Amino acid sequence: MSESVTIYAHRGARGHAPENTLLAFSLAFELGADAIEFDVQRSSEGQLVVIHDDTVDRTTDGRGYVRETPFVKLRELNAGVRWNTPQHIPTLAETLALVEARGGAMNLELKASSREDALATAAIIESALAERSELLRSRILLSSFELDAVAWLKSRLPWLRVGALFTGAQGRNEDMVSRALDLDAEAIHPNIRLVQPDLLERAHVFGLRVNVWTANRRPTIRRLLALGVDGIFSDAPERVVIERARFAARDSS
Ligand code: G3P
Ligand code: MG
Repeated sequence: MSESVTIYAHRGARGHAPENTLLAFSLAFELGADAIEFDVQRSSEGQLVVIHDDTVDRTTDGRGYVRETPFVKLRELNAGVRWNTPQHIPTLAETLALVEARGGAMNLELKASSREDALATAAIIESALAERSELLRSRILLSSFELDAVAWLKSRLPWLRVGALFTGAQGRNEDMVSRALDLDAEAIHPNIRLVQPDLLERAHVFGLRVNVWTANRRPTIRRLLALGVDGIFSDAPERVVIERARFAARDSS
């Protein structure tokens, strides 16, 4: 399946630009990514914003919890401060518009600190996605470590394509394939430490794609291609573009 491997720019091209910003997303598509991955949370009044951590401390010039901060305050922050490149924290709406304009695809990761937090954010995501065009809807793959929130969204939006996301620790304690099938997911998203040939084989028997996070080193990318994964998340998507092309050329010769 490697010739069709999908390249997901992790948090945008975060190896080259401030993560989860419109700059990182644009750059990802410039570098040849098929899709961007980004993390969605809510502000104190329920605006959907794109940021990874539960606080703004690491990635911006501010301090505090995202879900306790009003949107106007989040918008005053510089999410590119570590790169000396001013950037806003994007909204989900801005991010969807960028992906739509670029003709790409996306993995929307619902990020939450608990099951309850995830369900609260899921309810807002439901209304945000419900009003989108059919074409854009088809380009969204939603995932979360909070699988109950994924199940809830899938029950509300049956057209939504979903993936079951697993940390290294979660994956060892669960049967990832069964959990994904219960969710009516199209894919499992295992941490790279969980990826073994038998997992690939079992997932493929059941028609599930296997999208692996996160591979940045070229030998690692080559190993995943040889294993036959279906998607690779990378902070440096251009490396996957190059390795995918080389792999396909070798495969067809
Ligand atoms: O969705 C894949 C990956 O992004 C999960 O880990 O912590 O980078 O959001 P994290
Ligand atoms: Mg993520």
